[in-house]
Amino acid sequence: MPKAGWVFRNPDIAATLELIAAKGNEGFYRGEFAKKLVDAVRAQGGRWSLDDLANYQVKEREPIAFDYRAASNAQSWHIVTAPPPSSGGIAIEEILNILAGFDLDKLDRPHRVHLIVEAMRRAYRDRAQYLGDPDYVQMPLAQLSSPLYAAGLRATIHPDKATPSSSLPGYLDPNQGPHTTHFSIIDAEGNMVSATQTVNYVFGSCMVVPGTGFLLNDEMDDFALVAGKANVYGVVGNDANAPKPGRRPLSSMSPSFVIGADRIGVIGTPGGSRIITMVLEGILAFIDGERPEKFVSNPRYHHQYLPDAISAEKGAFTADEIQVLQAMGHKVEVSNRTWGFMNAVSWDRKAGELHAGTDPRQGSGGAVVK
Ligand code: DON
Repeated sequence: MPKAGWVFRNPDIAATLELIAAKGNEGFYRGEFAKKLVDAVRAQGGRWSLDDLANYQVKEREPIAFDYRAASNAQSWHIVTAPPPSSGGIAIEEILNILAGFDLDKLDRPHRVHLIVEAMRRAYRDRAQYLGDPDYVQMPLAQLSSPLYAAGLRATIHPDKATPSSSLPGYLDPNQGPHTTHFSIIDAEGNMVSATQTVNYVFGSCMVVPGTGFLLNDEMDDFALVAGKANVYGVVGNDANAPKPGRRPLSSMSPSFVIGADRIGVIGTPGGSRIITMVLEGILAFIDGERPEKFVSNPRYHHQYLPDAISAEKGAFTADEIQVLQAMGHKVEVSNRTWGFMNAVSWDRKAGELHAGTDPRQGSGGAVVK
């Protein structure tokens, strides 16, 4: 470990950024720089070609946008979030569509958690079954985002019994086989940015092409390399997310906006497959009136269809709540492990206040600006 005060200098990345500033896309994906990347990867036995880089194009995609609780008497919220090839926005929409039909506020904590977990389970099942790169895979997005579809799924949820994931259609036998960064920004003019960027696993592929200053990612692991076999985050997938030339892997990144009549929230986090449920719990807490300073630190729980268990941070549930959840048939696994690095900001237009929260799990605090 370097000593405190040690300054990390990376002149190579400075030169790379200057190259991009001077020559843009062309200077990076083509020509000498591209050759440098391809040579270094091939020298390590990788399979890149100059064409892979030359053909790469950044794609701008319409975000997913939907209303939560549009049909209920409670306040409705407009949510703008990540489209495919992330599964995040679709999954959050599906979960919130299911939850919109429940009166969560009337329930005790374990029953509220039970319903949220059952919605998570069903959305992650659909993630495993259907989702992949929209340029290559036909996905039933209209169905997955439909309130009617959510109503059908809601009807399959027992009010106090866990549904075993293995009983949901499309179950794949798993025997068939932590760095990402999120920025949440609202500027003085009200412009908002919710941006998550990833190299996938810690230090990506652990390879820096000499003379470039940045890490190559290991995003291949976001593909379902073998159908039904869990990736490093434990999520499974299917043909929809199989690796094929040109395809982009299925992400879970969920940079989101939560837009209400008086309050706006900008939320996101790293955390692999747990990103979706962290952002969901942040959205639910924000909607319930919690501020970023508070909700970024709330103990988290997570269910992702497979493994068929609720994993929870310490403090997420009381012993009594765990008992009630277990009596409903949920497997609850509490561990010392924590996850996420949530950064969130909110704008209370009525009070004229901006609030910021950054995850204490990474050793930082929050702030309020009036
Ligand atoms: O796009 C994804 O879903 C993953 N590559 C995110 C990985 C991640 O968040 C790792 N950081 N903790």
